[in-house]
Amino acid sequence: MKKEELYSGKAKTIYKTEDPAKLISEFRDSLTAFDGKKKSEAKNKGYFNAQISKKIFEMLEEEGIPTHYLGMESDTEMLVRAVEIIPIEVIPRNIAAGSITRKYPIKEGTVFKKPVIVLDYKSDEYGDPMMNEDIAVAMEIATYEEIEQIRSMALKINGILKKYFEDKEFLLPDFKLEFGRVDGKIVVADEISCDTCRFWDKSTGESMDKDIFRFDKGDLSKTYEEVAKRIVPEIFE
Ligand code: TMP
Ligand code: ASP
Repeated sequence: MKKEELYSGKAKTIYKTEDPAKLISEFRDSLTAFDGKKKSEAKNKGYFNAQISKKIFEMLEEEGIPTHYLGMESDTEMLVRAVEIIPIEVIPRNIAAGSITRKYPIKEGTVFKKPVIVLDYKSDEYGDPMMNEDIAVAMEIATYEEIEQIRSMALKINGILKKYFEDKEFLLPDFKLEFGRVDGKIVVADEISCDTCRFWDKSTGESMDKDIFRFDKGDLSKTYEEVAKRIVPEIFE
């Protein structure tokens, strides 16, 4: 049962439950880009992202990757373990797109010979600057051992997701992971959805993710629905 609100972010609201070890994460229709500077709403966005995230977390758990996912409370509300979030955005990249093509002389579409793991400090105030092991340790937000574990989990997850999405006719140029600590363990937290991944249609190369909103490429609700049809066809039955 949902109790009082703990925190409201840009796309999700977190509620307490009777059990301090469990929280409810509600996926909303609001969306932002560019550190919250661009804002909008998209019908059913929360629903599609919640359902896609559910499916991915269940699949990762089956593959032996620990996540914060516990179950669904409703179509848009996920029951999750209360974790201590490590404020680092971990971004596995397979094909160059987005900020890496703006910050470095790397052309969009360049296929990386091996996945590139980018770490950013999660902070709208500082504009998500580059993070690495030494900075994380200096800031006391993570230990060397934790960052090593996070990197190896991110690489493993990348291998699993790349294959999973390729089977659904998507290329996966990159995606963002967040990790948390619970009971001395590192688990995948937050969400894995159209807001946090780049999906390119395998045949047309078209964006089927939040880049639609970031760069005004079309109808976000319709696009997310198309993704949901491939990932969670059961919700349309
Ligand atoms: P970027 O190219 O803008 O750095 O984004 C890399 C990936 O991370 C992309 O799949 C979108 C995702 N992402 C988030 O989930 N949250 C963010 O705040 C940003 C900037 C990117
Ligand atoms: N989520 C980030 C923001 O609100 C940015 C992004 O996804 O592009 O600003």
